[in-house]
Amino acid sequence: MDRKGFLAAIGMSAATLTVISCAGCAKSSSSGGATTGPTGVDFTLDLSLAGNATLLNNGGYLASNNVLVARTTAGTYIAVQQSCTHENYPLVYQGNSRHFYCNNHGSAFTEAGAVINSPANRNLTVYNTSISGSALRIYS
Ligand code: FES
Repeated sequence: MDRKGFLAAIGMSAATLTVISCAGCAKSSSSGGATTGPTGVDFTLDLSLAGNATLLNNGGYLASNNVLVARTTAGTYIAVQQSCTHENYPLVYQGNSRHFYCNNHGSAFTEAGAVINSPANRNLTVYNTSISGSALRIYS
C-alpha cells in the first residue's frame, strides 16, 4: 500500500496530515509562555530544600513558575519573568555583570528588568520578593 492508499485507509488526506504535522511549527511556548511575564504570581520557595540551594549563594538563580529568581552579588533576592521579551527564550542571570541575559540573540536586562541590549525592546516584568526564615516568597 502506498502513502496515499494508507492515508485513505485511515480516513485522512495528505492535507490533514500536513495540518497535524505543522501544529507545532509556530513559535510557541516550549520555554514556558508568552513574551510577557505571568500575572497573579504568588509562590514560596523553601530555601532549606536542596533543589533551591542555589539561592543560598550570591549570584545563584533558578526558574520556577515561569519566573527567574536570583540572589544578587549583594545578597538580595530579585525576580523577573523567565522568558525574554523578544522571542520568549529562557533568560539566565549573570550576577557578576549584574544583569539578565538572553543567549538566543544577546538581549540583556538590568537587575531591575530594564532593557540594556536589543533586539528586545520591552522591559521584563518584575516581581516582589520577601524572605522570612527560609521561606522566600515571590509575588506580583
Ligand atoms: S529571544 Fe531573547 S534576544 Fe531574541
